Amino acid sequence: MPQRLLTWDSDHYGFPIARLDSPVSAETVSWCSSQNVRCAYWLIDAGDQRSIEWATENGFVLADVRMTLDHPLSGIDQTPSRLTRTGATEDRPVLVQLSPSLFAQSRFFTDTNFPLSRSQRLYEIWMERSFAPSPNQTVLVTGAPGKVTGLITCSVDNKNHGTIGLYAVLRGSQGQGLGRALLHSALIWFRTHGAKTLSVVTQGRAVEAQRSYQNAGFRTCGVALWFHRWF
Ligand SMILES: CC(C)(COP(=O)(O)OP(=O)(O)OC[C@H]1O[C@@H](n2cnc3c(N)ncnc32)[C@H](O)[C@@H]1OP(=O)(O)O)[C@@H](O)C(=O)NCCC(=O)NCCS
Repeated sequence: MPQRLLTWDSDHYGFPIARLDSPVSAETVSWCSSQNVRCAYWLIDAGDQRSIEWATENGFVLADVRMTLDHPLSGIDQTPSRLTRTGATEDRPVLVQLSPSLFAQSRFFTDTNFPLSRSQRLYEIWMERSFAPSPNQTVLVTGAPGKVTGLITCSVDNKNHGTIGLYAVLRGSQGQGLGRALLHSALIWFRTHGAKTLSVVTQGRAVEAQRSYQNAGFRTCGVALWFHRWF
């Protein structure tokens, strides 16, 4: 099915949101209208020139460049970093409050058709969920308890695939190696939690994040373009 309504996103923003998959046609767009869709997301592979041209000719607007990087999970120095620790209960409210400002490069902020307060809440929820106790996920942080300066969230699924979700260092603490330390500790966590593969998704505009991942041994494995169409 090249189109589907996204229940979580629709409930969160309070209007119908759909996800389209290639190939998209005039019928798909008519289906959106028939479902009263306000916003349709379409993720197009960067090499799919035909779809990119069709999207731009049919009212879709480029919202984001989605970069996927993976890591071989080999050659990892197992020496623990003294700069990082597992996030504690008192870090959670601080990080939840900070999260909207840390991830303002996401397409939910750069596409200003989304209500700002709902996009901010989206990242607060994401952060809250990252702290849910589970053997398959963790939040690693830098800084003293309650005075966090950086964080990275890690999870491993039941196919032993590891994913980095959120990763940021507070602006005033950047450029001092904290990001490097967080990635180093994350790689150790993935190895000790059974990950066989590891990937992370970031934005094309997040150049510092890409450099940071590349420094830690990640390599680009996919580039795709997020298009949005508003009805
Ligand atoms: C990406 C991010 C987490 C990196 O954090 P950071 O703590 O600044 O990263 P580091 O300090 O480890 O490394 C950053 C640069 O500073 C350099 N650096 C490291 N230690 C340093 C030091 N003591 N003095 C000066 N520079 C230093 C590193 O070499 C690196 O430069 P390079 O990429 O040219 O090699 C941070 O830039 C950030 O939060 N960005 C915004 C949020 C974001 O984009 N998140 C990812 C979304 S998926």
